[in-house]
Order: sequence, then structure tokens, then C-alpha cells
Amino acid sequence: MRRREFLYNGLAGACTLAFAKCSAPKAISSVDSRIEILIGESLGTISPDIYGHFTENLGGVVYDGIWVGENSKVPNINGIRMKLIEEMRKIKAPVVRYPGGCFADSYDWRDGIGPADKRPRRTNFWSDGEESGAPTSHKYDPNQFGTNEFVHFCKLIGAQPYLAANVRSLSAGEFYRWVEYCNSPAGATTLADMRAAAGYVEPFNVRFWGVGNESWGCGGDFTPQEYAIEFRRFTTWVPHYGQRLSFVASGPNVDDWNWTRGFLEEILRKGRSPLRSIYGIALHHYVNGHWHIMGEVDPSHAVKLIVDEWGPWYRPGSEVTRGDQLEQVPTLRDAVFSGMTLDIFNRHPEKVAMANCAQLINCLNSLYLAHEDRFCVTPVGHVFAMYAPHQGGQAVRTMFSAPTISYDRDGKSAAFWGLQGSASLHDKDLVLTVVNPAIRDPREAEIVIRDARIKAVVGTTLTHPDIHAHNTFEQKEEVSPQTKALPVSSGTLTHAFPPASVSSLVLTLA
Ligand code: AHR
Repeated sequence: MRRREFLYNGLAGACTLAFAKCSAPKAISSVDSRIEILIGESLGTISPDIYGHFTENLGGVVYDGIWVGENSKVPNINGIRMKLIEEMRKIKAPVVRYPGGCFADSYDWRDGIGPADKRPRRTNFWSDGEESGAPTSHKYDPNQFGTNEFVHFCKLIGAQPYLAANVRSLSAGEFYRWVEYCNSPAGATTLADMRAAAGYVEPFNVRFWGVGNESWGCGGDFTPQEYAIEFRRFTTWVPHYGQRLSFVASGPNVDDWNWTRGFLEEILRKGRSPLRSIYGIALHHYVNGHWHIMGEVDPSHAVKLIVDEWGPWYRPGSEVTRGDQLEQVPTLRDAVFSGMTLDIFNRHPEKVAMANCAQLINCLNSLYLAHEDRFCVTPVGHVFAMYAPHQGGQAVRTMFSAPTISYDRDGKSAAFWGLQGSASLHDKDLVLTVVNPAIRDPREAEIVIRDARIKAVVGTTLTHPDIHAHNTFEQKEEVSPQTKALPVSSGTLTHAFPPASVSSLVLTLA
């Protein structure tokens, strides 16, 4: 089945957007929806880190996507693709996770430091999945992009690094040494001297450390109890060097409640203090069940959710560059899905401390596609730009009422909400993002701010008549956002949300 048919049939794992049998298109006639924003009801501060990214040494993500090399004809800064740096600055990228994913639990960080021409070549974790004809760098890691280059990349884009440690095949001692390499003060340790020799005298001050990845599977095939023991061993008495360390525990496989409960019970076997070393539990599947189980042992919810991989994952066959494993071409449909997902995170600031879209470039729900000197922003990348103003704002309760969408799902009638979104307050500015998931039906909504009047509005809309539309190296602007000032009448706003659209409205309050 071709990818397009696959999507149309609604088989894509996490998505519920294939309303293939919706009713015929309707003309915009009258207000049929309402959005009421209660600016006095704060839900909490939206952590900028929920707008994070994920870069794994997999396929074309690092080699080609991020790293082109200093001698490349592709414009670069110290070997890093310049266009990518420019785009990521625009979206205010707060945090980037690296080097995996599954790759992390096969990676020896020492291979990626020291003089570039002395670094070893290693078999990439993903080499068996690479098809013949894939670039050698995808199968055999040349280690030209290691800790120094990654941290430098983060610095160039203004993001914090989030490093994932190898729990499956390296020791706790090696983890400790990686922290020492990154964070020990200038001149204090042999590893700090090695860092300085590479040009990085000052410590990297890395705060976020993932302790393994998917430790129930590729990250070691542990039971939750075995993993809890490893977690305690890896995180006990790691030197801080004055830097707060936030350890992220590997979370469950989808809805495996036993993992979450088993891990936390084993952690508590030594008393409550190891619980305090957990900043968050990584979820690669967003459901509330894990949050409730976490609350059983941690009623104050000091431990947060870290959704450090999210996004749709389709069958292979739509990659733009042959040999880019797990590359797919994000469409408007993926942008709609991404908007919905970010809105969910915005609406739950008390739960979600960080999230990382899988993955940044040339893989899965990419924000960008790149090959050699070609580059384009995908519809998902545009959504990140449109949602960036939410970062650090006060999420406020927002109520949406809109006609429900009825559709046929595998022969049975099903329903889906008509409009959803999120809002955040930033002094006198209110940022409202709204998704209309219906393929054919526009929605016209009255937007009301409780206890305030609207002075001015600038609106940005991402849409296209074809929900499968996407950008390519040749047609970079096929799906691109349109921005304009919107008319306000008597302090209120009525706005039409086109079918299959993501909208961002910045409202200045009187
Ligand atoms: O993102 C690709 C893979 O998906 C990651 O390596 C792994 O953590 C997840 O299963």
C-alpha cells in the first residue's frame, strides 16, 4: 500500500485524523462554535522545554542533517548546517536530546571526543536496518559528531543539551566520567583538560541526563525492578560541580502499567530519597494511567512526565533521500497532529516538564528535511514556529464548543471533537492556538475573553486544500503559514478556522 493510501485509511499509529467519510464541504455561513478563555484561571506555567527536540544518530539525522563537516560546500558553522541553525533559532528551540533513542545504549561517549582524525569508526546500532546503498556514515559511525559538537550545536541555537546515557553496555562509572567530562571545572580534572584541548575550556554544565532509553527493550531488556536498581546505581552520588542534575528515568513500553509501578516500587525499597533523584519519567506513549500510578507513590507529583519521543510513525517508503532510515515526509496532516499534541502539553503544565518531537530532521515527524545542499521546512516545522510564543506563558483555562465530527472508523461510526487548542497569557498578550481537524468543514468561532476586551489580533494559519500536501526541496512553500491582522469588533473577535488547519492568534488585550 502506498503511504498516501495508508494515511487515508487511518492506519497510522497515533493519529485519529482520517475522517475520510465526513460529510460534503460546507460553506462558511454563520458562527457555529465558541471559544471562551478564562484568563483568571491559570493552569500553571508552560515549560519552554515541552517544545524540545530529539536527534538520534540514526539514518540521515546527524550525518547529512545536522553535521556536514567543516570542509563541506554546504554553508556551515564549525561543520554544523547553517540553515538548520538559522531555523532553530527562529523557533526558540529550548532543549535537544541526543544521541538516542536506541542508539544511546550502544554508544561510548569516549569515541566521540578528542582529535577528529583519531576517533574510531564504529558499527552504528541501526546498521542492520540500513538498506544497501545507504551512505557509509549511516552504517559505520565516523564519530565526527560527538559530545563537543553536539553541545556546540546546542549553544549555537540557544538550547540546553539533554544527553542520554548508555545503561545497557557501559558502566555507572563511565556515566560518572561523562558527567565529569562535561561539567567538571576548567583545569580541575584530566577530563576537563581533554575538553579544553578540544577548545572547550569552560564546563558545558549539562543539566538533563537520561538514564538509558527504553530500558525494557533496546536499552537492556530489563525488568522494571532490574532497571530501578540500575537507575539507583547510576544516579547515586554523581558529582554536581554546582550544576543541578535532572535525571530522566526510562519509562514504560506504551501502556505497560507494570513497568511504571514496578520501577517506582523498587526505587522506594531503599526509602524515599532515591525518588527525589528522579526529575521525570520518560513516556513514549502519552496516557494518563502512568500519571495516576506515579501519584500513588508520589502524591505531590514531584516527578514529572518527560514525553521525550512523540510523533506519528508510518510504514517505510516515503523517504526523500534513499538510505535515510525512518525518514518520512511530514504532511499537513502531521502538522495538524503536532498542533493537537502541543496543545495537550500546554493544557497540562502541571504534568509535562519536557517533550521532544521525534525527530528533528530527516526522521519520522521531522521539522526539517535536508540532503546535501538542499533543505526545506516541513509543515511540522511551521507548527513549532507558530506555537513558540506559548513558551513560558501562563496556561489559562479555555473552553471550546464546536460541532462534533462524525466519521466512519473501520466500519463503525465514531466521533471526534470539532475544535480544540490552548491559550497562554504573557502580560497583555494572549496566545491562542487552535486546531480544526475536520478535512472538509470550516468552523466559525466567536472568541470571548472572560473579563477582558480584545484590542488587536494578529493571526497565522497553516492549511491547504489537500490534507496530504507537503513541502519538498523543489516546492518548499507548498504548505506555509499565512499571517495577517484580524478585525476586532467591540472588543470581541469572530474567526473562521479553515478545514484541516492549525491557527495561532496573538491577541493584545485592552
Ligand atoms: O525514534 C526512533 C526510535 O524509536 C528510538 O531509537 C527509540 O527510542 C524508539 O523506539
